[in-house]
Amino acid sequence: MTTQADAQPPCYYGDYIMLDRLLSCQMRESERRGRPAHDEMLFIVVHQAFELWFKQILHELDRVQEDFSHPPLEDTHLGRIVHGIERINAIFKLVVQQFDVLETMTPLDFLDFRDLLIPASGFQSAQFRMIEIRLGLKTEDRLTIGGRPFDAGLSEADRARIERALGAPKLIDQLGLRLARTPFVEQRDYVFHDAYRDAVVRMLEADVARIHASAFMSESQRETELNAIVAALERFNAIFSREEGQEHWRLSLAAVQAALFIAVYRDQPVLQLPFRLLAALMDVEESLRLWRYRHALMVQRMIGVKVGTGGSSGYEYLSATADRHRIFNDLFQLATYLIPRSALPPLPLALRERMGFVYADRTKP
Ligand code: HEM
Repeated sequence: MTTQADAQPPCYYGDYIMLDRLLSCQMRESERRGRPAHDEMLFIVVHQAFELWFKQILHELDRVQEDFSHPPLEDTHLGRIVHGIERINAIFKLVVQQFDVLETMTPLDFLDFRDLLIPASGFQSAQFRMIEIRLGLKTEDRLTIGGRPFDAGLSEADRARIERALGAPKLIDQLGLRLARTPFVEQRDYVFHDAYRDAVVRMLEADVARIHASAFMSESQRETELNAIVAALERFNAIFSREEGQEHWRLSLAAVQAALFIAVYRDQPVLQLPFRLLAALMDVEESLRLWRYRHALMVQRMIGVKVGTGGSSGYEYLSATADRHRIFNDLFQLATYLIPRSALPPLPLALRERMGFVYADRTKP
């Protein structure tokens, strides 16, 4: 009996990955204009390789965001989310290295065809914009080129894709909702931020007592240290209540407190996966910033302080985006509010039992 699989022609490598089509997509503009520039091939191949990896990142984001959108989040979903985000990070780390290959093209070689590209630029990479948007970069936080909207130079089709991404859920918001629902942070008999505040106050009071007891400090040194403790207490207030002037937080207070809870009690088995999620998102932010900075350095090397083919100030604009276009910055701020393990309030036994990972000593009645 012949099966449907037998009836199909056998899978052939070149057909499967559509190699003919893929390899016929490297058309040098310099060749088309009758003065072929050798290095333009490298320029095209590297850009295409980037865009393929951007496609893969968007594909991973599809599933990560889909998994996030299914409340309640099962652990199997969370494991897959973490895995997807770790893969995105691995891709970013890989593509940063591709700049090394492109840099084997010298600035003089680039000049052989650069002018033919105007006004095209990576600035028009719709996939890159979609990654930024879907992770959570806000339009109002973007640096603009000459006051023009960031999507001004895009084709109608690309602008429509960007519009769709702008209207879809953002990963940072999905994370915020997920964090705010973290169990164990606020229970009838246990409120994490109260216990943490008490621990912070105890720690700072002990510091104050130590400063007063020190026989080796001058009066001005003592005053400086005491002022530093008052400042520390004020700083810590940012994680206990939201006041005006704290708009720099992107996540809600409940989400930030939950992230802190996860960060400090990450050794609890039930919190290990959530902790990996936070670490993976910070890795993505870091890799994306490294991508921006590495690209900016390459641009400086290639064109110095010339303006870009897309009309920006080039290096200056790009290096500023590395600093300004941040998304998961709140997670980086958490480190400010950590206290040493020795000062941490221990989790009550009843809570640890509810967390489900208490090993009983069965030899005792
Ligand atoms: C010789 C190599 C390159 C040069 C000289 C260059 C130059 C520039 C410049 C000057 C800009 C700012 C916009 C403008 O005024 O044009 C820009 C933006 C951009 N380029 Fe490149 N680029 C190069 C390679 C690449 C590669 C390989 C990629 C990979 C896809 C890439 C992706 C981007 C992206 C995504 C932006 C927008 C960045 C943002 O607005 O945050 N570039 N490029």
